Amino acid sequence: MKKGLLLLLFSSAVVFLAAQEINYDESKIPPYTLPDPLVMENSEKVLSESDWINKRRPEILSLFETHVYGKSPSHPHDIYFEVLSEDRYALNNMATRKEVAVYFTGDKKHYMTILMYIPNKRTGAVPLFFGLNFKGNHTINDDPDITKSITRMKPRDNQREDQVREFKRGEASSRWPVDMLISNGYGLATVYRGDIDPDYDDGFQNGVHPLFYEKGQTKPKPDQWGTLAAWAWGLSCAMDYFETDEDVDATKVAVLGHSRHGKTALWAGAIDQRFAMAISNDSGCGGAALSRRRIGETVDKINKLFPHWFCENFKKYANNEDALPVDQHQLIALMAPRPVYIASAVKDQWADPKGEFLSGVYATPIFELFGLKGLTDNMPEVDKPVHSGHIGYHIRSGDHDINYYDWQQFVKFADKYFK
Ligand code: GCU
Repeated sequence: MKKGLLLLLFSSAVVFLAAQEINYDESKIPPYTLPDPLVMENSEKVLSESDWINKRRPEILSLFETHVYGKSPSHPHDIYFEVLSEDRYALNNMATRKEVAVYFTGDKKHYMTILMYIPNKRTGAVPLFFGLNFKGNHTINDDPDITKSITRMKPRDNQREDQVREFKRGEASSRWPVDMLISNGYGLATVYRGDIDPDYDDGFQNGVHPLFYEKGQTKPKPDQWGTLAAWAWGLSCAMDYFETDEDVDATKVAVLGHSRHGKTALWAGAIDQRFAMAISNDSGCGGAALSRRRIGETVDKINKLFPHWFCENFKKYANNEDALPVDQHQLIALMAPRPVYIASAVKDQWADPKGEFLSGVYATPIFELFGLKGLTDNMPEVDKPVHSGHIGYHIRSGDHDINYYDWQQFVKFADKYFK
């Protein structure tokens, strides 16, 4: 082989490897300047609560819609609900289990099923933790009477979507400590995300997106909703139901999620201020982690791995983070003055725990505008949660996951506001 060709091959291999390489080194983070949440697009300063609520918040929300998650349609005008089942003796008589269909269309063809557990020992309507599950409602608990969700995962080879293996009853129960929540007086509600939009790139044909296409439209426009926004929209539609359910205190619903569902929970809290609290667990890139840090998962990586999650416009910011008109601390700020919790795990470097924490730090001035406490600059030690302000935070030992320890912290934090 000619020397020139060899050199060319070698250098292309180096370029390829460098592009693949993931940075985990703080010292290699390029210098960056974050957009100031308290300076408006016309350079005026935010001086009061009312400036924030009426001017700056809508501005930031719209920037996130246009450049990151995409705009979602309004809720269907003919949305309606149906209680499919109710059992007042679930979980050894500790809870009432309900399954509720939320129909997106009048013909009953498109719907999601909310699975709910409400503590039987209650004096009135209860506060609720609410979030998406990955594998189906029946996987969150061994309870034999949960209706199995229709699994909607990416089919392989010649499979059809409905031929993909089902997940086992209770297989995700370590992530959903229902008994603990019930005994602490909380209800739990969850929806299988596949009911809203299956989590794979099929050109936006198999979820809720086509229900809203204009005549001749085949996919969302560059600033219209991706999959994460569709999930958040679904959560917000569920809120319409909670407002009608007398067992639920709809003023005390915490929207929460792990990882991609943590990104979704934060976005749901941003678009729907009826959520009284948002909790992000290991949400990483596109969630609580600052995009400009370019450590662990980056905008480029996430768009390549999950091209369907964000709106098309977000792809412009791959390896071009400084051009983003927003960063993720502003997503946390959109929760103000409602409390928000950010959880990280020490071995979850892909999600950039420090970047998740810093978002809370840089969102703090907005909470202070309301006379509330956020986070101080010092990252707490591992397994030493900070619950003193309106932004809660912990970094737990262990891996990327949501476990009993995480939930215990969420309950302690929620107790401060909901009890
Ligand atoms: C991948 C993805 C993350 C995401 C995670 C999850 O690791 O890169 O962005 O948070 O999956 O949802 O578990």
